[in-house]
Amino acid sequence: MKGLTIPVGITKKTFGVLSTDRIDLWWLQPIGVWLGLTLFICYSFWAVWQGAHYFCGPYLSPFYCPEIFGSSPHSLFGPKPSWYPGWLHYSPPFFVIWIPVGIRFTCYYFRGAYYKAFWADPPACAVGEPRNRYRGENSFPLIMQNVHRYFIFFAMVLIAFHAQGALKAFWFIDPNTGMEKFGIGIGSIVLACDVIFLCLYIFGCHSLRHFAGGCCDKLSGRPVRKALYGCSCSLNRFHMPWAWISLFWIGFTDLYIRLCAMGIIKDWRLL
Ligand code: FES
Repeated sequence: MKGLTIPVGITKKTFGVLSTDRIDLWWLQPIGVWLGLTLFICYSFWAVWQGAHYFCGPYLSPFYCPEIFGSSPHSLFGPKPSWYPGWLHYSPPFFVIWIPVGIRFTCYYFRGAYYKAFWADPPACAVGEPRNRYRGENSFPLIMQNVHRYFIFFAMVLIAFHAQGALKAFWFIDPNTGMEKFGIGIGSIVLACDVIFLCLYIFGCHSLRHFAGGCCDKLSGRPVRKALYGCSCSLNRFHMPWAWISLFWIGFTDLYIRLCAMGIIKDWRLL
């Protein structure tokens, strides 16, 4: 390999697929990511496809939030529209699911994680990969990942709807009066945690951090931007754990509400 400089600590052996001089358990992380994402994708696809058991009293599954058209009391614009093709399967999240999918798929952290876990490109640092030419994200199709900077604003709107859904989860219909009454159920806490984890993930986004302060040469003299940039930087340090926690929690929240709606478990009321 004429002209190729081999970094210190990496021998020529590194250039065979999966070959490496690393002696640590480097393969654990890509396998863990593969398992975690595969499990989540399978469950979420199934849950979104169902179109049933996605609400229970004031609780609405985060996969279905906001419910643009649907048959639940949470629907914003009533039932499935008449113009929707009859031959096409319908489920309420079809109108909004592209937002969370787009955010996660183009997220800087998840990109790095699934490139390694699903495409072995590379499987891990200093581990041989199947390709011998690095193309980066400068050409089609991966250049499309740059839409992340726009998706993040859709994420803000989504968070607002999730927050509204979490607030609603504290208001139950009183069976005696038929009026809404403040209360706290396990589901209320589960939905509130969903919003908190989502905020901790989204507000630490690399693109948002850049939007807050990255495009200024000097932040001194701009206290608001400086504060926003500082907050985003603090969260950004933990972007990976919040990405996973928020992902897991969305799936868990859907499962909890689904089981309550199906009558398999009972929602405990604390107040
Ligand atoms: Fe992960 Fe933006 S980089 S959400």
